[in-house]
Amino acid sequence: MSTPKVSMIAAITMVAALPVALATMDAHAAGKEVPGSLRAVMEQLGDDMQAVTGAISNEDWALVARLAPGIAHHPEPPMMQKVRILKWLGTDAGTFRGFDGRVEEAANAMGEAAERGDGTQVIRAFADLQQACLACHQKYRAPFVEHFGEQR
Ligand code: HEC
Repeated sequence: MSTPKVSMIAAITMVAALPVALATMDAHAAGKEVPGSLRAVMEQLGDDMQAVTGAISNEDWALVARLAPGIAHHPEPPMMQKVRILKWLGTDAGTFRGFDGRVEEAANAMGEAAERGDGTQVIRAFADLQQACLACHQKYRAPFVEHFGEQR
């Protein structure tokens, strides 16, 4: 009596687990980013910017001041990937780095304004910062994804 019941439960469990297994395979096929890769650095930047947005909404300038240095001095991708990126950029390396310099400058300005408790300047610097992210993305993001594909 109990044997068919158990096997039916097992069958149901397997069917229920299938979409999960397929989704996991999908994630692998899609090439989840390598730890420390540029993409992982970017995801962290995205999270930090969201945290800043939340802090600005709460007018929590102390929190903005704590978050800003992590954005200004975000980690670099591993040396191997960095070399590949620089090779791909060629003479564009300076322009690419320039956008990162704008991020650093704006994040520092945002941090300094936050330390002074100057909300207006925090928001101005935040806008500059977001513009710097956007500027690099507009120029390089799609070509980067296109060029490196699964190798990123
Ligand atoms: C110097 C160029 C550059 C700057 C500056 C830059 N990014 Fe990016 N970002 C990229 C590139 C290139 C990609 C595509 C990476 C990939 O998909 O592998 C990207 C992708 C992303 C992604 C998507 C990650 C994913 O999982 O697909 C997020 C989020 C992101 N950036 C956030 C930011 C934020 C926030 C800033 C500013 C604080 C910023 N980026 C500044 C070049 C830049």
